[in-house]
Amino acid sequence: MAQTWTPDSWRNKPIQQVPDYPDQAVLKATEDRLATFPPLVFAGEARRLKSALASVANGDSFLLQGGDCAESFAEHGADNIRDFFRAFLQMAVVLTFGAQLPVVKVGRIAGQFAKPRSSNIEKQGDVELPSYRGDIINGIEFTPEARIPSPERQIMAYRQSAATLNLLRAFAMGGYANLENVHQWMLGFVKDSPQAERYRKLADRISETMEFMRAIGITSENNHSLRETDFFTSHEALLLGYEQALTRVDSTSGDWYATSGHMIWIGDRTRQPDHAHVEFCRGIKNPIGLKCGPSMTADGLIELIDILNPANEAGRLTLICRFGHDKVADNLPRLIRAVEKEGRKVVWSCDPMHGNTITLNGYKTRPFERVLSEVESFFQIHRSEGTHPGGVHFEMTGKNVTECTGGARALTGDDLADRYHTHCDPRLNADQALELAFLLAERMKEAHDEKRMVVNG
Ligand code: TRP
Ligand code: MN
Repeated sequence: MAQTWTPDSWRNKPIQQVPDYPDQAVLKATEDRLATFPPLVFAGEARRLKSALASVANGDSFLLQGGDCAESFAEHGADNIRDFFRAFLQMAVVLTFGAQLPVVKVGRIAGQFAKPRSSNIEKQGDVELPSYRGDIINGIEFTPEARIPSPERQIMAYRQSAATLNLLRAFAMGGYANLENVHQWMLGFVKDSPQAERYRKLADRISETMEFMRAIGITSENNHSLRETDFFTSHEALLLGYEQALTRVDSTSGDWYATSGHMIWIGDRTRQPDHAHVEFCRGIKNPIGLKCGPSMTADGLIELIDILNPANEAGRLTLICRFGHDKVADNLPRLIRAVEKEGRKVVWSCDPMHGNTITLNGYKTRPFERVLSEVESFFQIHRSEGTHPGGVHFEMTGKNVTECTGGARALTGDDLADRYHTHCDPRLNADQALELAFLLAERMKEAHDEKRMVVNG
């Protein structure tokens, strides 16, 4: 029998990746304070995302989930948020129009601050300091003071998340996301990028469609779905004290919800079935993501699904697979078969970033062709298994950074030094993100057309 769950039952379990706060009393006081703050998202929104994801699980929609590897306090500005949102909308529109499927839009944003680390210690020359764990925990500067975990940072992360979410809601609902602006989203550097021509052609076709609809009486003034979009937030639920403080009972259903974001996920390093992160996530009703790397066994996966989605509810669980371009063929089919054999309802999502990280000229980078290659394999495998390639999960920015090599501009190892700004992992720039979207649209359309042919016999 499952044991009773409470928002703090994770505290009795073994736990990985915990920061070493020097003063537990200050930590406790901060968490108590956070617990009095308003929720960032509402339970009803999380339920709406869950039903959108159920449609992905059933093969009728596609999930687009992306954003920063790690958000930072230093880069919290309107321009950054707008540039991200604009690039994300471009991807979404390319996919919706190209693949002719609804796209569920989920940002890795407004809460993506805590980072799991492979080592507790960072060494530079002869100096050893505690590793940087994300701005919600400590500072990235390589000084002893910055690396001391500070609870006050949780308050700052909460406030930054609130401000970011506020702007995103305004963009999504207040006119910026209106499909009539599809050409305007190209302003900025993408205008002269290799993807520009392709994007302009697609935007022209959308505008033409919109004019046709206007002629028959469907306009953005009288139809809100043309001028608004549902945009959801997500992050890794790593810092459980913070998550607990923002976990609240929904008064309409009596259920517990994480209100730090619409969807949260469990990392590949913290998914031990009897440990704290899985314990916390099993009790909240939000949609949950589970990162699956090469060490995930078929039995281990079914065990985790039993714990996280005992009612087999479609939309509850998204499996975010991050194997690496050379390992996906060895690992994905066995997991798909196990899930299919047991009849479990999941969303299959492909994270083509995290298994493809290499070091080049002293920089952590990801060759774009390996990112694309993992995505291609993901689609191919789902096609031969007869399952739905539900979505993708990626790290991107709306800026013209040089963090991943390759892409249509053919960035090389020598270019990395130019604009390498990430606080953690290398991200796709706006150009590479758009290129990925065009590829996804093609593959989705093929998969979709094939399904239609089968249905129409
Ligand atoms: N409301 C629809 C959707 O979100 C159409 C839409 C409006 C849209 N603005 C958008 C789609 C921006 C993609 C991007 O899918
Ligand atoms: Mn990352």
